[in-house]
Amino acid sequence: MNLSELPTPALVLDVERVRRNAERMQTRVSRMGAHLRPHIKTHKCVEVARLQTSAQSPSLTVSTLAEARWFAARGFTDLTYAVPIEPGKFEAAIELARECERLALLTDDAGIPAELNEAARVENVKLDLFLKVDCGYHRCGVEPETKEAFEIPRRIADASHLRFAGILTHAGHSYHSRSLEELRVFARHERDVMVELAAALRATSIPVPVVSIGSTPTISAVEHLEGVDEARPGNYIFFDAFQATLGSCRFEDCALTVLTSVVHRDSTRRKVVIDAGAIALSKDRGAVDIGDPDCGYGRVLDLEGRDLDLRVGSLSQEHGIVETLDGALFDRLKVGTRLRVLANHSCLTAAQHPHYNVLDAGLIVDRWLIQRGW
Ligand SMILES: Cc1ncc(COP(=O)(O)O)c(C=O)c1O
Repeated sequence: MNLSELPTPALVLDVERVRRNAERMQTRVSRMGAHLRPHIKTHKCVEVARLQTSAQSPSLTVSTLAEARWFAARGFTDLTYAVPIEPGKFEAAIELARECERLALLTDDAGIPAELNEAARVENVKLDLFLKVDCGYHRCGVEPETKEAFEIPRRIADASHLRFAGILTHAGHSYHSRSLEELRVFARHERDVMVELAAALRATSIPVPVVSIGSTPTISAVEHLEGVDEARPGNYIFFDAFQATLGSCRFEDCALTVLTSVVHRDSTRRKVVIDAGAIALSKDRGAVDIGDPDCGYGRVLDLEGRDLDLRVGSLSQEHGIVETLDGALFDRLKVGTRLRVLANHSCLTAAQHPHYNVLDAGLIVDRWLIQRGW
């Protein structure tokens, strides 16, 4: 099947670019002496995970227990569930831990170790638990210089049915970097804060088996990973318009687009409407604050992937509005014309769809399922 035969809107995944992105990140992280544990929240897809992990050590980071169940049932049994655990999920997590070679959880709450330990004791399982650290993002995590940063690991290490897995952070604030130099500052900080905390914990006789860090921007920019055991970037496998603007990749590295059709043309206002609206693209605002204030909701490409220098300027549920067309281009875009949109944030775009249409050498060669839900 070729791109003009696929019903729209539809996700198109350029598998050659996925392979290239996977290989580059694997090489980069291995050269720096760390283990790559990719975050699969970006794609939620077993076939993509197989491309980004080696058969010998297929370890992953997941963002939902639904992902964990789906991947564990398909042979990925070394998992880190990278959202803080809460009591309502203890039962499901314990059940899953029985299926896994290793399921690591994380917490930043001083009350959780005792509660989780009791649940694990009753079920007679032993659970791995990380301390989640805040390295500046201020979303979750304990700040490294607080007493909780020492107290929580101690409580985990002393609990009969828990193992202290180590310390884990995510520099999500790196997405606000305005230059490569600023990004490097965030990247070094993410690494150094964690290496220092690990040393301080070890100095109080708490063994720290794993120092885990990572986001796509910081792992793409960091110069070395001394003292870090594992890296957990996720978005790098597809990249997107935001990452290319930020400087983590080039536009030609972006692997995911949304195939769409023109459904309306307005010659008075020189605009066309496409059938990729907010549900197909997501409403992520993109790089508005970091150098591309007019990024809209995605860049419009032709079927071959050439940038037409147009943006999806506004969205409603099933409509995307593409404005300010020059005369020649407007004349080309008839109702039914196929286009592709490179969206701002590939993780959110992918999560709107049931499957990827896999593009290889210009043809759709396969369909890969996306595991959504919680
Ligand atoms: C805890 C955690 N680790 C790793 C990642 C991967 O980051 P990125 O998508 O920038 O690669 C995320 C992304 O949200 C995350 O929340």
